[in-house]
Amino acid sequence: MTAKGTEMTTATYEKVRHVIPEVEWATFEPDIEAIERLKVEHDAVILAHNYMTPEIYHGVADIVGDSLALAREAQHVRAGTIVLAGVHFMAETAKLLNPAKRVLLPDLRSGCSLAESITPEQVRALRAEHPGVPVVTYVNTSAAIKAESDICCTSGNAVRVIESLGVDKVIMIPDQYLARNIAARTGVEVITHPGACEVHERFTPLDIAEIRQGNEDVVVLAHPECPPDVVQAADYAGSTADMQAYVEQHRPAKVALITECSMSDNVAAGHPDIDFVRPCNLCPHMKRNTLGAIRASLEHGRHEITVEPSLADAARLSIERMLAVS
Ligand code: 13P
Ligand code: SF4
Repeated sequence: MTAKGTEMTTATYEKVRHVIPEVEWATFEPDIEAIERLKVEHDAVILAHNYMTPEIYHGVADIVGDSLALAREAQHVRAGTIVLAGVHFMAETAKLLNPAKRVLLPDLRSGCSLAESITPEQVRALRAEHPGVPVVTYVNTSAAIKAESDICCTSGNAVRVIESLGVDKVIMIPDQYLARNIAARTGVEVITHPGACEVHERFTPLDIAEIRQGNEDVVVLAHPECPPDVVQAADYAGSTADMQAYVEQHRPAKVALITECSMSDNVAAGHPDIDFVRPCNLCPHMKRNTLGAIRASLEHGRHEITVEPSLADAARLSIERMLAVS
């Protein structure tokens, strides 16, 4: 907060004081003020994923959440423009649910290793190999993959989505680890694909053993995109929103979130009383979102996300079926 900081940025700083030093905040203030002005000028809202850095998450976002919350909230946006501070598949999902609105992604390079791991031909081959078995697709995929699917899921609703199908076998793509973790919780046989999140696949049970060694009372929460042996070594597994809810409900004295780095910062900002042990891996795609990129996105109307019309209806149906379940 600088002497020049406005009432707005000064009030916002109070939310992040615990995780952003004053001297660093001062460098963010001009962009935050400009973004707030541009949002009004362009009738825009910012939807931000839980992995955004705190100056975005607490500083300029209008709606924050996990992939499920962002998809749900995208349905209720009234503004004409949505800036999706996240990755490409999230912007595509927002566009599918809002065909008449303008959806902007600040940096087109914000991809995802899961979305890039599978092709429509591979989905068709899995279907041909397992006739009649429904295809449950993680939202971390392109519209082309969603269009080949029966229903989508996120890490926040995968158990409910699979149980809603009332079958004993599903094809769950493209995250092999999420599929195996969900299979263990549902008893449903899961056929999968060798995709993985480049951030979560790097965690190992040894990381958790090391955290516990120096912190006897720590509660370890892991994302279900982590390998099953990591999830088994944790005390709880859930989506980013589930992890946040766990911290808020249980208020552990010490906690470790086995996920992307900004998650701990964003939750820690509101809980100065909780000690966050911070083993984390950065998602290079999420980190393409900066205040400067968001500001430029609003200033220049870039990068507008569109969905191939021949794919849009089928892709939208898979998402809508998921939203009807959860
Ligand atoms: P959730 O926020 O839905 O848990 O997803 C995490 C993730 O890796 C998104 O890319
Ligand atoms: Fe994809 Fe993993 Fe990054 Fe999420 S954290 S966008 S799943 S690479």
